Amino acid sequence: MPDNRFSELLEEASKLGRVIDHYVMDALSMYPQRLVDASLHLFKAGGKRLRPTITLLAARMLGGVEAEMKAVPLASAVEVAHTFTLIHDDIMDKDTMRRGVPTTHVVYGEDWAILAGDLLHALSYNFIARAVSEGLSEEQAYRALKALSEAAVYVSRGQALDMLFETTWDVTVSDYLNMVRLKTGALIEAASRIGAVAADAKKYEEDALGLYGCFTGIAFQIRDDILGVYGDPKVTGKPVYSDLRRGKKTILVVYAVREAGREELKKLIGPKASEEDLKRAAKIIEESGALDYANKMAKIYASKAKEMLEALGGVADERARRLLLDLADYAIERDR
Ligand code: IPE
Ligand code: IPE
Ligand code: MG
Ligand code: MG
Repeated sequence: MPDNRFSELLEEASKLGRVIDHYVMDALSMYPQRLVDASLHLFKAGGKRLRPTITLLAARMLGGVEAEMKAVPLASAVEVAHTFTLIHDDIMDKDTMRRGVPTTHVVYGEDWAILAGDLLHALSYNFIARAVSEGLSEEQAYRALKALSEAAVYVSRGQALDMLFETTWDVTVSDYLNMVRLKTGALIEAASRIGAVAADAKKYEEDALGLYGCFTGIAFQIRDDILGVYGDPKVTGKPVYSDLRRGKKTILVVYAVREAGREELKKLIGPKASEEDLKRAAKIIEESGALDYANKMAKIYASKAKEMLEALGGVADERARRLLLDLADYAIERDR
């Protein structure tokens, strides 16, 4: 189990996650109860809290504990923004399970799930604005708002491409990488960048952290694609084969239709496919070399991410740097 190798990181993430959870729960106490419940449904079900962990570790790495404390509202902003994207993503993807529980729209209906997502999205900016009265300078708040709002725009573009690709086979690896950079890389980039902002980092340090996040995000999404076919739903908390059923152009599918018996594979994937068809498709994908290819690509992006951190000179907290290096490896070795 890779989780042993990552026990220090995972303990840290769970400790930092609890800090974020307090911040978010406190902020969400004054709304109509059904809206609070819908907004916190996934939040309470679990989640790895990797994005706020990145924000807080980046702040600590560059600015020590003082910067990390300043980054708490910002890290909370990143996690509520992430939760918003998950709630709306499950509506778009018509997915019924996440974090081991039925998705928000399944439990509360699409109307409430859309509103819960809207609220969480709005709160993410609100947290940053409010952080000014909690020790953040206006300049830092501006930089954080810029990073998070740009990420939100990129996520929309990425999600649009992700859906448009469902109905075409004409998707290259380079199209895929562009799409995942937007839908997943952008928010992880912002998480990392915002940590640097809390530490009042120099522009080149912020950019290095941004690239670390972007590359980690791409690697992370490649692993997500793999777990979506070969993962254990009891561990991931998400169903298998959902991507294949929706016709998603994951890195596995993009590679396999190029390399393997494309006509057969195309017929086995899609909304009409039976469980048997999807199992057969998973086998063809593996035999095509797509799984090896995806693993190699994930590794390349994780290495690029780590290089960004290693290229920085001395930092305020070396342990935080080591944990961020571990996190890039965890992104591609995780089982959940
Ligand atoms: C899921 O992200 C969405 C993707 C970008 C693949 P995570 O795998 O970080 O989800 P949680 O927060 O741990 O549930
Ligand atoms: C990941 O989407 C990106 C966002 C949620 C914006 P996916 O659809 O690939 O991720 P999962 O597998 O549902 O978590
Ligand atoms: Mg999805
Ligand atoms: Mg999706």
